[in-house]
Amino acid sequence: MTAQTAAAADAAATADPPLLEVRDLQVAYRQGNRFVPAVRGVDFTLSAGDTLGVAGESGCGKSTMALSLLRLQDRSAKVSGEVLFRGENLLTTSWARLRAVRWAGASVVFQGAMSALNPVRTVLDQIVEPMVLHDRARVKDAERRAAELLDSVGIPSRRVRSYPHEFSGGQRQRVMVAMALACRPDLIIADEPTTALDVMVQAQILELLAERVRESRISVIMITHDLSLLAHTCDRLAVMYAGRIVELGPSKQVLQQPEHPYTRALSRAFPTIGDPASRRAPVGLAGDPPRPSEAGTGCAFAARCSEALPSCRTEEMLLWPAGPGRSAACVRVRPDHGGAR
Ligand SMILES: Nc1ncnc2c1ncn2[C@@H]1O[C@H](COP(=O)(O)OP(=O)(O)O)[C@@H](O)[C@H]1O
Ligand SMILES: [Mg+2]
Repeated sequence: MTAQTAAAADAAATADPPLLEVRDLQVAYRQGNRFVPAVRGVDFTLSAGDTLGVAGESGCGKSTMALSLLRLQDRSAKVSGEVLFRGENLLTTSWARLRAVRWAGASVVFQGAMSALNPVRTVLDQIVEPMVLHDRARVKDAERRAAELLDSVGIPSRRVRSYPHEFSGGQRQRVMVAMALACRPDLIIADEPTTALDVMVQAQILELLAERVRESRISVIMITHDLSLLAHTCDRLAVMYAGRIVELGPSKQVLQQPEHPYTRALSRAFPTIGDPASRRAPVGLAGDPPRPSEAGTGCAFAARCSEALPSCRTEEMLLWPAGPGRSAACVRVRPDHGGAR
């Protein structure tokens, strides 16, 4: 090998792997004496600084997928596939390595996160603690940084020594955002962090999270059932249905020109941020997603799809390419479909 080709080979070998690569992730929960699949083969890649929104109705496997990335799912779950975090498979790595990643590499903001705040400690103390324990920061430095973080999410310094109950729900959620940022993670997973909040406050908090992560090149996986809210705050969108990603692509394109009928139905169901009426009466999305135990052959959405063809009920739908950076699991984008799109 010449020096030049050796250098090229070296460069290739040291090229950074993507921050997160999820390959054929499958998760099944034990029900009696069998396993029912809640996530049925999910693939996606995140580079540093990417923001990915995950949308889909309740029960489509969003939380199961998110929890499985850091092996936080229920013990009864059977997980397979690969979750490569900077090239290291988190599904098979040791618990000690996983714990280190959970604190310093990737942090999680959950739906029930507000109740995760300790009622008898000030919010400042609660943000300082992980920095001292896991980053080995000095208390004084950690306090300074915690106050800065709280300030950056709109909690003024005179309030940092207040207790959680002294804040509104929206403010507590801002504290959670500050906490997620505390150990400078490379990835934040936010699973419906704002559903308990008023819709305008939700939009503000997600926007705030998106802003903070853009500034620091943190990657985010943000989950809600509200497509328009996500499109507003994330660069890319993944739409999940019955345990699979059925559409993936740049947010604006996915929202404005959806390729999958489910995405179309979902965007009609939640058309406008801040319009409560559209939530109470979702348009064009009658019925429910199938339960994991009901997922059969063919496209899982066919039974609710106004555009379904006979073959949709029998043929497996994979995520096919649907333009630059886009893919969709619909017969209409299938390469041999004959251009009926
Ligand atoms: N701990 C669990 N044990 C058994 N089934 C579960 C568990 N958690 C979720 N499920 C089932 O897995 C499916 C996907 O749920 P979930 O991941 O919570 O969806 P989403 O977050 O999109 O609402 C649902 O049918 C749900 O009932
Ligand atoms: Mg969920």
